[in-house]
Amino acid sequence: MSSTNMPFSQSDIALDSFASRVLIWFTQQGRHDLPWQQHHIDTPDPYQVWLSEVMLQQTQVATVIPYFQKFMLSFPTVQQLATADWETVASHWAGLGYYARARNLHKGAKQLTQIIKETGSFPKTVEEWQQISGVGRSTAGAIVAMGMRNFGVICDGNVKRVLTRWAGIDGDINKSATDKQLWQLAERLTPQQNSGEYAQAMMDMGATLCTKSKPACLLCPIQQDCIAHAQGQETAYPVKSKKSPNPEKHSFALQLINPEHKILWLQRPDNGIWGGLYCLPLQFQQKILEKKVLATFTDDIIFQAEYTTAEQIIFEIFHHDIIEKFNKQQVIKHSLTHFHWYLMPITLQLTMEQTHLLHQKLIQAGQKFGWYLIDEVKDLAIPKAMQKLLSS
Ligand code: ADE
Repeated sequence: MSSTNMPFSQSDIALDSFASRVLIWFTQQGRHDLPWQQHHIDTPDPYQVWLSEVMLQQTQVATVIPYFQKFMLSFPTVQQLATADWETVASHWAGLGYYARARNLHKGAKQLTQIIKETGSFPKTVEEWQQISGVGRSTAGAIVAMGMRNFGVICDGNVKRVLTRWAGIDGDINKSATDKQLWQLAERLTPQQNSGEYAQAMMDMGATLCTKSKPACLLCPIQQDCIAHAQGQETAYPVKSKKSPNPEKHSFALQLINPEHKILWLQRPDNGIWGGLYCLPLQFQQKILEKKVLATFTDDIIFQAEYTTAEQIIFEIFHHDIIEKFNKQQVIKHSLTHFHWYLMPITLQLTMEQTHLLHQKLIQAGQKFGWYLIDEVKDLAIPKAMQKLLSS
């Protein structure tokens, strides 16, 4: 350390030269052809940055590109996105996953359109952007920096990986003290001028050089003073202490019965629990054993993050019917290695209209599914928990 009471484990010289080293690397080696990039455009479009940043939350660049292009063709302005009907937006989103983001996007477009109507422009500050649905602190920083060309700081997962390694920050990444430390460092390193290009550069470094398992340290512009590199311990950062997994999960298992007495089964996505197997639609809940869940049930609850696209569609059509049936049936306990799962079967008899609507929407969303008589289910690949449920 070069001075006493220094808040960071790097010298002032290293801290001061960090951004310029990263920016030079970006000019020579960064990605300059991503369709949402605005740094070579005279008047940046915050709409494109906002749209792409929401899409890029939890999703890889290569997956996002065609979706971004499709959205820009159909909804070239935020007003067009705001006035599009939800079905159209949802069908554009189908396949991108984390469906709740599409909801936020549509809601956010309406909020932005209203703000533009009232003030004549997009929100200007990071704080104002954070008021928009689905925009967190780092996304807001990215939009302000890249879309508004004002000072904005980002500190997303990729950036945190770069910074924990470079500064040797070994606190648990999930602890708020570590988060605070990382944000302070990110602020200290972000240049007042050019924070947009710097944001893009840091994202590129995280995605292409300072990768999770095989960082390309030889090509890295900050290798010479990277603490993790000096230790030969790059992949030991960021430190994640093993969280004791939530020992319980709770969900409804919906038996949606069509007028031909057939039940809907959904094929689970390849990633995640029971990948590829057929399963009743699940609706994760805070705790189904307590009546108080009803209070939060109709809200935009966090558990929707665990829903698949198809389950979100079902939630939107049927949540009122599910509430009516809630608590009338028996709970089944199924134990897996990391948690106990409490499943409450809920049976809903669908009308012909509801069946058609749901069928259509699932097809639109690219979901694999089938309607089966109870006897036919034995021929399907289904997980044990579902077998248990059927025989209960
Ligand atoms: N991840 C999040 N935002 C990104 C961006 N603008 N470019 C590349 N990857 C990203």
